[in-house]
Amino acid sequence: MYPTTQRPSFTARIDGEALAIATPPHQTLLDSLELGGVDWPSSCREGTCGSCMGRLKQGRVRYDTQWFVLSDQDVEDGLVLPCIAYPESDLVLEGSSF
Ligand code: FES
Repeated sequence: MYPTTQRPSFTARIDGEALAIATPPHQTLLDSLELGGVDWPSSCREGTCGSCMGRLKQGRVRYDTQWFVLSDQDVEDGLVLPCIAYPESDLVLEGSSF
């Protein structure tokens, strides 16, 4: 783990869009997407409704809380919940609206 001031910053690229946003590792992907101007769907913001679900085509994320709507197979298939996911590398995301 890095001290806050020394943590690397990652970039998320939205697949199909010429858009790259900064994704600090201490900020959820959903917050980063919204701060980057992306109109990403969301509702509960706590990993229970599934409305923010996207697909991680490249990269890694971590979850600090247990998710309730993704099975282990979903995670293996690349599904991600940006509202509770934190980046661990540069990412390529695909959302349901893209
Ligand atoms: S906003 Fe509900 S699971 Fe992400």
